[in-house]
Amino acid sequence: MGNEVSANFELFNNAASNNQKFIADELKWLLVPGSRVLEIGSGSGQHAVYFVNHLKEVNWQPADKEPYFGALERNLKRISLSGLEKPIYLDVAKFAIAGKFDAVFCANVMHIISADLIPSITAGAANLLDDGGLFILYGPYKYRGAFTTESNAKFDEWLKARDVRSGIRDIEVVQAEAETQRLELIEDIPMPANNRLLVFRKLSENHDVSNSGF
Ligand SMILES: C[S@@+](CC[C@H](N)C(=O)[O-])C[C@H]1O[C@@H](n2cnc3c(N)ncnc32)[C@H](O)[C@@H]1O
Repeated sequence: MGNEVSANFELFNNAASNNQKFIADELKWLLVPGSRVLEIGSGSGQHAVYFVNHLKEVNWQPADKEPYFGALERNLKRISLSGLEKPIYLDVAKFAIAGKFDAVFCANVMHIISADLIPSITAGAANLLDDGGLFILYGPYKYRGAFTTESNAKFDEWLKARDVRSGIRDIEVVQAEAETQRLELIEDIPMPANNRLLVFRKLSENHDVSNSGF
């Protein structure tokens, strides 16, 4: 058995292989060695395999729902890699999983799920994090209602034509929702192809908001 993604992975996604190195470069400084990470919406599992291969001693828990879950299970069954966990079923509409993680990572999911699931994904992630844990979102965002580029505006139109409930989210909406769960935005990192990496840190219950840098 190999420990690399092969081109015949089911639902292989070119975008994931294009962005994985850039995301890993950020995760390398965000995650301490030995971190336990839950990935929501793992898709084909390409990111999971790449990150376990490139991050020090990470323990990576992939998760997804249909229509990706079956392909994710089949793809990862062929991989033999220490630190890569067996995929679990996770629909953020229900979020019926337990456990504790140092980080919850989620790439290109916020604009796929409907806006009314933003509270559920945010609360679900926050509940699985200890104080200081990170909620890390990769994907395109709008700022004060405006797209950052024409290509993101076109992408949004394409998404909505496919599923009217999907669409690029306003960072302010996600940030406000995160704050209700004691998740503080600590980084908003520009990434290739007009994407961002948003990093939220879970604050302790007795955190004094006046000390926040934001
Ligand atoms: C565009 S794909 C991104 C896949 C992968 N993360 C990547 O960046 O290539 C969107 C993912 O979100 C997942 N997804 C959609 N709705 C979901 C939900 N309600 N709960 C959990 N995952 C969901 C899909 O199954 C799919 O894997």
